Amino acid sequence: MEQSAEGVKRVFLDTFGCQMNDNDSERILGFLKNINYTRTSKPTDADLIILNTCSVRDKAEQKVYSALGRFKDLKDERPGLILCVAGCVAQQEGEKLLKRAPYLDLVFGPQNIHRLPDLIGEISKKRGRLVAVEQSASIDESEYGLSSASDKRAFVSIMRGCDNFCAYCIVPYTRGREVSRRSADIIDEVSRLAEGGVKEVTLLGQNVNSYGVGGAEVSFPELLRLVARIDGIRRVRFITSHPKDISVGLIRLFGEEPKLARHIHLPVQSGSDRVLKAMGRGYTASHYASKARLIKSLHPDIAVTTDIIVGFPGETEDEFEETIALLRDLRFDNIFSFMYSPRPLTKAAAFDGQVPADVRSKRLQRLQDAQRQITLERSRELVGKRVEVLLEGAPKPGECEFSGRTSCNRIVRFSHDGALPDSIVEVVVTEAYPNSLRAEFPVHGK
Ligand code: SAH
Ligand code: SF4
Ligand code: F3S
Repeated sequence: MEQSAEGVKRVFLDTFGCQMNDNDSERILGFLKNINYTRTSKPTDADLIILNTCSVRDKAEQKVYSALGRFKDLKDERPGLILCVAGCVAQQEGEKLLKRAPYLDLVFGPQNIHRLPDLIGEISKKRGRLVAVEQSASIDESEYGLSSASDKRAFVSIMRGCDNFCAYCIVPYTRGREVSRRSADIIDEVSRLAEGGVKEVTLLGQNVNSYGVGGAEVSFPELLRLVARIDGIRRVRFITSHPKDISVGLIRLFGEEPKLARHIHLPVQSGSDRVLKAMGRGYTASHYASKARLIKSLHPDIAVTTDIIVGFPGETEDEFEETIALLRDLRFDNIFSFMYSPRPLTKAAAFDGQVPADVRSKRLQRLQDAQRQITLERSRELVGKRVEVLLEGAPKPGECEFSGRTSCNRIVRFSHDGALPDSIVEVVVTEAYPNSLRAEFPVHGK
């Protein structure tokens, strides 16, 4: 063995953004483990600091520069400390980051994670500064499969990139072209996770419904079936579905495959046809509504959640009202809502009619007020119902408060004195709060 205990080094890793980035951070840690790094929660103890960044909104670049500023002094105190920026801001800014932050050692994009051990080796030998932001048209499987099972829940990337180029969105630039992983490799990864104790897996892609288009040997619903069949896997989730591509076949699969979690995240973005067209989303509000209604009519217990952008360039007050009307009509279980934020490289950043910040902010407030009530009403509809909870962690010593998530992805809490028979238990919902449910266990009167 070349490495001694003293050879162990420490990495501080901070992750921003979506589940893709969470998954990438796991892969980063996997590669670093192979070269003897362990994770620390204290930047002051670290030999390596990595910021895994997101650039989807809100002046992300500036935030990264100011975060980096905080680590500058540490570099003076700890000679040999390596400071890196990863993720979508790294991909977007590249060389510029090194120029503006002279104390930064490495910038690497999402498609260069597997090169990390080599890049770190080069930096420590020569103390040079490097940029690795090349994008390739194919997936090298050695980049994947490193996530370890440290929990009952895990995320698995089934594809990378996005080809949709929605007018507001930077993701196609930071994540590159859409490519699907081979289904056999995905099945292998999920099987290994299941052997390590994972019960719930979430399949990740920017547009999972186009999995396999132009390459992979199975369609997305077929992939879901294969994953659901893996021993030990008890729940399968997926994000994100695109309304233009979600198929009736997939919606029907929920009636046939009991392991599919009862939740679909289906981002609508706006209730106005003109705005949807300008965004380049590829569907109208009524087309979206008909898909959402089909889900509800076939499977009334499926929770449908969505993303909304307010204040897209040119959005009028009436168009914004159409979004509010759509919320009231479809009564989503929950929404994630954002003020439009102009992003570099995107078409919409150059559109006329940019909406002033105060108007965007007021619209966001109104939208969230309207949804708050709906979310609570949807929660209350669950009171008295039996739901299955996948437990998350164990109660603290001396306490008896358990928590977990329902199949429809709501947080549930309940008290129980003693151990539970399984990692998934049935409870009955007793109270609904805006962001969680209270329940009773065991369920009486079966
Ligand atoms: N691939 C997914 C999600 C991508 S990003 C999809 O297509 O739905 C997650 C969410 O961020 C988007 O759904 C959108 O609502 C929001 N978003 C993306 N770019 C944005 C921007 N420039 N300003 C505000 N919100 C944005
Ligand atoms: Fe962005 Fe649109 Fe791709 Fe989603 S589908 S990642 S919103 S470009
Ligand atoms: Fe995700 Fe943010 Fe990149 S949302 S894909 S980390 S820009």
